[in-house]
Amino acid sequence: MNMSMKSNRRRGLLVLGLAAAMCSGTLAVAQVAKAASGKQFPWSDASLSPDVRADRVIQEMTLDEKILLLHGQGMPMGAQTDTRSNGGAGYTVAIPRLGIPSIQMADSAYGVTRGAAMGRYSTALPNNLGAASSWDTAMMQTYGELIGTELRDEGYNMTLGGGVNLAREPRDGRTFEYMGEDPLLAGTLDGNVEVGVQSQHIIGDVKHYAINDQESGRMAVNANIDQRAMRETDLRAFGIALQISHAGAVMCSYNRVNGVYACQNSYLLSDVLKGAFGFKGFVLSDWGGTHSTVQASHAGLDQEQPGDYFYGDALKKAVEDGQISQAELNEHVHRVLRSMFAAGLFDDPGKTQVPNVESGYATARQIAEESMVLLKNESHILPLAGVHRIAVIGGHADVGVLSGGGSAQVDPPGGSPVPQKPGKGIFAAFIHQAWMPDSPLRALREALPGTEISFSAGDDVAAAESAASKADVAIVFVYQWEAEGFDLPTLDLAPEQNKLVEGVAAANPRTIVVLETGSPATMPWAEKVQGIVEAWYPGIRGGEALAEILTGKVDPSGKLAITFPRSDADLPHPRLVTPPASSEPQLPPKGKPPVDFMKVLGQGLPAFQTYYDEGLKVGYKWYDAEQKPVLFPFGFGLSYTTFAYSDLRVTGGTATTVNFRLKNTGEQAGTEIAEVYAELPAAAQEPPKRLVGWARVALQPGETKQISIPVDRDRLTIFDVAHKDWELTPGSYSILVGSSSRDLPLTQTLTLP
Ligand code: BGC
Repeated sequence: MNMSMKSNRRRGLLVLGLAAAMCSGTLAVAQVAKAASGKQFPWSDASLSPDVRADRVIQEMTLDEKILLLHGQGMPMGAQTDTRSNGGAGYTVAIPRLGIPSIQMADSAYGVTRGAAMGRYSTALPNNLGAASSWDTAMMQTYGELIGTELRDEGYNMTLGGGVNLAREPRDGRTFEYMGEDPLLAGTLDGNVEVGVQSQHIIGDVKHYAINDQESGRMAVNANIDQRAMRETDLRAFGIALQISHAGAVMCSYNRVNGVYACQNSYLLSDVLKGAFGFKGFVLSDWGGTHSTVQASHAGLDQEQPGDYFYGDALKKAVEDGQISQAELNEHVHRVLRSMFAAGLFDDPGKTQVPNVESGYATARQIAEESMVLLKNESHILPLAGVHRIAVIGGHADVGVLSGGGSAQVDPPGGSPVPQKPGKGIFAAFIHQAWMPDSPLRALREALPGTEISFSAGDDVAAAESAASKADVAIVFVYQWEAEGFDLPTLDLAPEQNKLVEGVAAANPRTIVVLETGSPATMPWAEKVQGIVEAWYPGIRGGEALAEILTGKVDPSGKLAITFPRSDADLPHPRLVTPPASSEPQLPPKGKPPVDFMKVLGQGLPAFQTYYDEGLKVGYKWYDAEQKPVLFPFGFGLSYTTFAYSDLRVTGGTATTVNFRLKNTGEQAGTEIAEVYAELPAAAQEPPKRLVGWARVALQPGETKQISIPVDRDRLTIFDVAHKDWELTPGSYSILVGSSSRDLPLTQTLTLP
């Protein structure tokens, strides 16, 4: 975050400069188009490989031109003073002499951000962890396609989305932006998002590499973690995402890993990413995450963002002095150009147009329907049927649904229907709680025209209790806001929200709770309510999707991509690790001149330590290993119908296939996510089990399907640090199949040599 750019000055400029901003956005795109369309060059032949084309360009480039591709030009963010920028978080300049287009980057985790600052609409999809609860690879491609399409419509050609950090610390304020706690699930889903993004000729990006697992002190923290744990957990998620998507870029993170900043960490960048993973794209630093020239270059950082403190004149000088070789410089340039060619930036520059709002709404709703997770449904309180009076209570359900904040924030079209509360920490002035204007109350009233539906805001608990007592069913909305830049001190909801649920449940036992959270929440009242639905931050059609789930028009099919523990005390680190004040960047007090925040970041902050001693035991692996009961396990989610598993048959050796039968034993159609886990031989010294496959299966009432899930060898291997390779431990493996990580009725053992 460039605070100097996201300052009050910026907001002032924003209004004055809106017309200029829109105009310069057009200019920036025109520049892209002109550069790409005109003259023929030796690299214009699209039948050549991206590598050959990149090398041909490099042969013609001067040193200055090469340097231009290796750094950004500042962070305009809508306040347009620079006509070369499209207004996103960063960009590189075009080099018209050589027909090289500029790279225009926009944050786009769950939709394109800053679109509204440019006067354009962007679709807010359900947040990433929410969408991950669909376990639906095809849907995740659709998610990426929509983001890619709108990026193009808005004049961008590179995403800054693709967060795949594992939820090692679920209070991480960006948990909503990531894909949960399992590397196979997170990597596979994020990989599919990137496939979708890149299908629209946008450079894909996977971030924040690596072990950037909490926000508190993210710019200073030194994450201590052993190599095997790192490879098998967080890095594995990145590896899988890249293997699936061949994303053109990876953003390295702010933090240090085992003593070295991630953006100059040769183990992370050279040995693992470019070596073991065979990554062919370019590494760009998180904003202000570059801390050196020579060390970073040697380690494998290709591009500094958003400025040029280390990769501008300093890089040029280091090359001239011979500290950085021409070959090393060319390698960085090659990677940038290669990704531009591979994504189609030269051949298909695109043109701006108004995004298709209606189609965005439809996609957002469909994804939200698959994302919501039914956690409890006692006495079949859901779907709502035969009820005459419903009391809807709290959570601003009369006007909208919550969204996640920070650089991922998609602007609510028409503004936030709830006055925007400021964020926390150093970003308080720049990050605001925003709500999407899609009211669950309105959607419910439309879905149930014959039902009397009242609303109480929930601020007055006595009034809420009274409304609940007069209704057949009470639906209470509670929420937990998350944003970049700060963590949740606890997974507990605010005390007044828990009090509200307790009060309503006491007034009417037929109470349903709807949660809008970006992380798991603890639920001291779970036994006292009959229904619980996790809606996450469900996006611009979240209210409608929720009404469809509650009324049974859509069967809930989502399953948790993250464990809901009983309390903070059960987490690997019961207390959040927080930094000393000296390790958080300081902004000048009010009235003092602004600082160059990116420069301050680049100079580095004193380190503080976090020790990820839980190692391999991330998420469910921790609770399983420690034999801790949980509130709702990983992989859990109910449907309005029921399913039965039978006839497990595991075949093969190294190419294992897991076959079983799945039957819809209920009275309505539904979709089950069938999950396959493996217990490795004791000699592997692994946590009790790991997810090795799954299938989303739609079944009519009474229907049975024969399911076959391949389990590749690499899903069963462990990382051998001494041999720097993945190995299969000989011995007996148990294959477990069922509906959640803690409900696995089918088991078969398999001996592998
Ligand atoms: C965030 C990145 C984001 C970048 C540009 C950083 O502060 O960590 O995720 O892409 O800003 O906005």
